[in-house]
Amino acid sequence: MTPTSSAYKKTILCIGAGYVGGPTMAMIAAKCPDYRVVVVDLNPDRIAAWQSGEPPIFEPGLAELVRQSLGRNLEFSTDVPAGIAIADIIFVCVGTPTKTFGKGAGMAADLQYLENTARTILEHSSSNTIVVEKSTLPVRTAEAMERILNGQKEDVHFEVLSNPEFLAEGTAIRDLENPDRILIGGHPTPSGQAALQTLVDLYANWVPAEKIITTNLWSSELSKLAANAFLAQRISSINSISALCEATEADVDEVGRAIGLDSRIGPKFLRASVGFGGSCFQKDILNLVYLCEHFGLPEVADYWRSVVSMNDYQRERFVARMLSSMFNTVVNKRIAIFGFAFKADTGDTRESAAIYVCRQLADERAALVVTDPEAIPNAKVDLADLGDRIAYDEDPYAAAEGAHAIAVMTEWSLYRELDYERIYASMQKPAFIFDGRNLLDHEALHRIGFNVYPIGSSPLTHM
Ligand code: UDX
Ligand code: UDX
Repeated sequence: MTPTSSAYKKTILCIGAGYVGGPTMAMIAAKCPDYRVVVVDLNPDRIAAWQSGEPPIFEPGLAELVRQSLGRNLEFSTDVPAGIAIADIIFVCVGTPTKTFGKGAGMAADLQYLENTARTILEHSSSNTIVVEKSTLPVRTAEAMERILNGQKEDVHFEVLSNPEFLAEGTAIRDLENPDRILIGGHPTPSGQAALQTLVDLYANWVPAEKIITTNLWSSELSKLAANAFLAQRISSINSISALCEATEADVDEVGRAIGLDSRIGPKFLRASVGFGGSCFQKDILNLVYLCEHFGLPEVADYWRSVVSMNDYQRERFVARMLSSMFNTVVNKRIAIFGFAFKADTGDTRESAAIYVCRQLADERAALVVTDPEAIPNAKVDLADLGDRIAYDEDPYAAAEGAHAIAVMTEWSLYRELDYERIYASMQKPAFIFDGRNLLDHEALHRIGFNVYPIGSSPLTHM
């Protein structure tokens, strides 16, 4: 890695070239041509893909954005020490998965990658450096970072800031370009405030000043967990109402529209579904629950835990409804799974409801065929142990051929545009559609001959 020339204002390093680090740095590089942006990761395949201009993740508009700055002020490398040595500002974007072992297993964040990263930074830095937490972390993690970093090297001071990322997958580029807010937390000390200002100046290259807010470190760390918990809570709330709708002939989409028009409630995140997925919601809520328990607040912990329990229930309820409507058995019945990604416009399948639904259906000995325009490679990894109980086909028509049922798991718009007359003709009868996203035109499908089971409203059947 070449030393930074004086043509650049500052050198930014990002450690972790995943869904958060890669797109965020591509945006910074594009908007701030006078900053040098270096992204490092331990995974050489990922780095090679980024550096070739073909990002290893699917995100609309991302490849174009990366190519705009590659070779100008954006580069990707596996040389973590060299990157640290030249950096003025280091963004830490390594993963913080849920712990799978020991104390807090299944709940607490696994901070080993973060700690390793802090120790690597300490080893290779030789001048004052701002270290920015981008990964979502438990409250007061910055304190641990500072303890590791500071007091070890004379003449080198590390200032830790929290700057959580709120981008959503599928809309990452739009979210980064036009964020609702940029949140930066730092210490009230003179060096803390100076570091805050450095980051404010960076974002001010494209984000209006009134959208850049600064807080203390702990508020910033907690705001990220709280924002995800509130968003997930809205989905669990509307999903809980969907169960009641199915029991009472109310329609959850109508209820959602009616309550969303109250300006205090607002219309977003009120779409009932088979359950939320993604790398963040469940992980962050469980992390919040663990923190509450740690701080002796069991009632608060229980409150937030119920958001996750409701999500589990929604997925189980979906499969139970499939079973009961298909005459209480799906043994050897071909079922087409439309969509495997945790939401549309991404190939990401982490915590996707489809994983749980497929596993439960496989336990019932169904014969599954998964179709998805982007997520089949990840689906194959997620369901590797199911062997020949499961097949994959990129073509939704081929997936549905000979099937007893279609289960819509992801709201890909392409599924709305399919020729369902043709699909119906190729399926076993009676043919079922379970729309886990309320994506399709249920009346039209019913007219074709399907037995249609939406989320949160009465089924439209011919039986
Ligand atoms: C992850 C977390 O899931 C999220 O909570 C956090 O806010 C940011 O980091 P994401 O970017 O989606 O989000 O994760 P992932 O795609 O797994 O990327 C993390 C990258 O860090 C991987 O490419 C991994 O190879 C890299 N990494 C991990 C390192 O470079 N060094 C490490 O020590 C560990
Ligand atoms: C989320 C947050 O939105 C983002 O701010 C944070 O940085 C990371 O976590 P993401 O997980 O990428 O982003 O996607 P999001 O759009 O929030 O969707 C999460 C899940 O909720 C998806 O499975 C989605 O399908 C589901 N969802 C969303 C619903 O079921 N109903 C809704 O009304 C909205």
